[in-house]
Amino acid sequence: MPAELSPIDKAKFVAAKRAVDFVQDGMKLGLGTGSTAAWMVRCLGERIRDEGLRVTGVPTSTRTAELARQVGVTVTSLDDAKWLDLTIDGADEFDANLALIKGGGAALLQEKIVATASDQMIVIADAAKEVAQLGAFPLPVEVIPFGWQTTKALIEETLVAMDVLNRDVTLRMNGDRPLLTDEANYIVDLHLNRIGNARQLALVLNQIPGVVENGLFIDICDMVIIGHGDGRVQVRDINAGTESDERIEFAASDNIFADLGD
Ligand code: 5RP
Repeated sequence: MPAELSPIDKAKFVAAKRAVDFVQDGMKLGLGTGSTAAWMVRCLGERIRDEGLRVTGVPTSTRTAELARQVGVTVTSLDDAKWLDLTIDGADEFDANLALIKGGGAALLQEKIVATASDQMIVIADAAKEVAQLGAFPLPVEVIPFGWQTTKALIEETLVAMDVLNRDVTLRMNGDRPLLTDEANYIVDLHLNRIGNARQLALVLNQIPGVVENGLFIDICDMVIIGHGDGRVQVRDINAGTESDERIEFAASDNIFADLGD
């Protein structure tokens, strides 16, 4: 039940709940991945159940697809949907320009494709994700398994010329094996501490053969909804240059806080 949520989960929940207010009947939606996005999918399911909202969702991972189906969201592929009205997703970090680091949940590739194919992207996050400068969170980069060590070495070489504080690169593991993404690729995490020029780094990384995509989302996000553990939400719209402070009440709900196993 809501009263049992930790402050961080409350923050994620209120951000997700507020974001779902922006969903309109008939929309085609990109559904993000991660714990905050999971709250959003649950809130969407609640609106579908309670209001008869009709939407189609394009999930950004097998995890999100499974949850969406569980809560009654009609799921389709991006190829079928072609273009989306709105994507709602979490982030690992965001700055004042709404540049993001994403990929903590290893779904950055589908997330970036889906967000880019959307008229609008809303990021939902707890307040701890806001940073003055990106880079404290390790930057995920998706690489193909073939020759991954060579690709890693090329990334390390490239970082020498970049405005970053640290240059450690590690392969993300799942137990004693490399973690595999939904596209059967690997993730290397770039421990940079501070990224001086995120736009340049994003471009340069994607020039390296073997790199599929990086977790820097630049000029993709339009709005961030920041949740706080006490129910406050800040809605920041980068295009309109506006920010509002609001409050979401926790209401008991019989399905949204049930354990769906996500
Ligand atoms: C997954 C992501 C997530 O959106 C990001 O890791 C945030 O996750 P959470 O909401 O669990 O903090 O990019 O690839």
